[in-house]
Amino acid sequence: MSDRLIIFDTTLRDGEQSPGASMTREEKIRIAKQLEKLKVDVIEAGFAASSNGDFEAIKSIASVIKESTVCSLARANDKDIMRAGDALAPAERRRIHTFIATSPLHMEVKLRMTPDQVLEQAVKAVKLALQYTDDVEFSAEDGYRSELPFLAKVCEAVIKAGAKTINIPDTVGYAVPSLYGEFMRDLRTMTSNSDKAVWSVHCHNDLGMAVANSLAGVAIGGARQVECTINGLGERAGNCSLEEIVMAVKTRRDFFDLDVGIDTTQIVSASRLVSNITGFVVQPNKAIVGANAFAHASGIHQDGVLKARQTYEIMTAEDVGWSANKIVLGKLSGRNAFKQRLEALGIEMDSEQALNDTFQRFKDLADRKAEIFDEDIHALVSGDGTGGESEFYRYVSLVQHSETGERPKARVVFSVDSREVVSESEGNGPVDATVKAIEAEVRSGAELLLFSVNGITSGTTESQGEVTMRLQKGGRIVNGVGADPDIVVASAKAYLSALNKLQSKHEKLNPQV
Ligand code: KIV
Ligand code: ZN
Repeated sequence: MSDRLIIFDTTLRDGEQSPGASMTREEKIRIAKQLEKLKVDVIEAGFAASSNGDFEAIKSIASVIKESTVCSLARANDKDIMRAGDALAPAERRRIHTFIATSPLHMEVKLRMTPDQVLEQAVKAVKLALQYTDDVEFSAEDGYRSELPFLAKVCEAVIKAGAKTINIPDTVGYAVPSLYGEFMRDLRTMTSNSDKAVWSVHCHNDLGMAVANSLAGVAIGGARQVECTINGLGERAGNCSLEEIVMAVKTRRDFFDLDVGIDTTQIVSASRLVSNITGFVVQPNKAIVGANAFAHASGIHQDGVLKARQTYEIMTAEDVGWSANKIVLGKLSGRNAFKQRLEALGIEMDSEQALNDTFQRFKDLADRKAEIFDEDIHALVSGDGTGGESEFYRYVSLVQHSETGERPKARVVFSVDSREVVSESEGNGPVDATVKAIEAEVRSGAELLLFSVNGITSGTTESQGEVTMRLQKGGRIVNGVGADPDIVVASAKAYLSALNKLQSKHEKLNPQV
């Protein structure tokens, strides 16, 4: 008889810990709504104690999400747990996820605590969290590099204290599948009350084995919750990817014999939304959500697929939502139709003015592009050059000239704190000239780490270009995203969006540092 695998999504928390992937409150709400459509069981909405911004984002998500459980991370201390409890108060279903490191290295060097102190603090944290909700998860950070007898003692104690889920992270991505699976199995055997909790895996992808390790934790170790992120976003090399784990368990149901509640037809939309908002582009050959994932290039494959799909396909593109890329609106669509589409996509406008501005941008786009897809609308909202939150810098217009044999020139008009400025420059190419023109006025001195251009909708040069610019300054890394059918304009918007993010002094604590 099969049982259920709980899907715990941590895109908004661990995913956001990727350098440059920080998201605004509005962006997080949009992603949370898409995760609810995807029917994930638990949405880890953030780490409430890390910043006021995160606290408010969790609170807003807790108010709008009805079907999924909303969760906040909290270190095993009173202040973090109280912040998490307060942020989650509006939620219909809420979970506090508290953690403390249990490996000798982390306890000695990072925490400077003895094993007994760690054990005591873990139990105390779980008991306090239970005052806010009966759904408490405990994580043993760096669990996989912990000593089994001590880890089992901690797990036993927190289960006794009332923790319902026990998560054993491979925090540094060191595990290999069979060893991690056996570790989970042995740990459960050594924990006398293991049957009173759901066991969970949380694997990082440093050696490219996060999905394989998670699957081994399920198949060999008996875990029934997987912690994962859309597109495998996460610290360093990322986390276990939600789309891969879900499709592996569904496609190989013959082997795993587990039910998963995910609506897989929402996977591609979720992947695009996260990529759109964070500016983290999905590689074409990425399983499930990469542009080539279902493309059969070789003649032999095409012939086979035409005769019978199963010859080369183990799942269909429709299963994961590739066909959902519909034309939704066009030039003649009215404000009401546009508003309804925004609502369906989970995009909320804070005011009538914001709706009117976005509608105007939609009309401008529809004048230049016949078919407007959902991705275009997401890009319109994420890639308007404001960075979503602070509108300190705002794109107004651009003229650029490039001709073979001449040095390109750009003249950019943008506003700085509502004051319009005009700046001109030459450059190696039109994008270089545009960025130099902006810098001539702003003088941010930020270092450009990444510049990438992508077509939002495939198969046509009519597509909007989506540009990501990653800037670094004073130890902070931010991503700016800009979208426009003109990629030079998209670049200007992306650069201004990144400057906006640098400008807004959002300091946020990393829970693990
Ligand atoms: O990787 C990790 O150990 C974590 C914990 C905080 C759950 O993200
Ligand atoms: Zn993690």
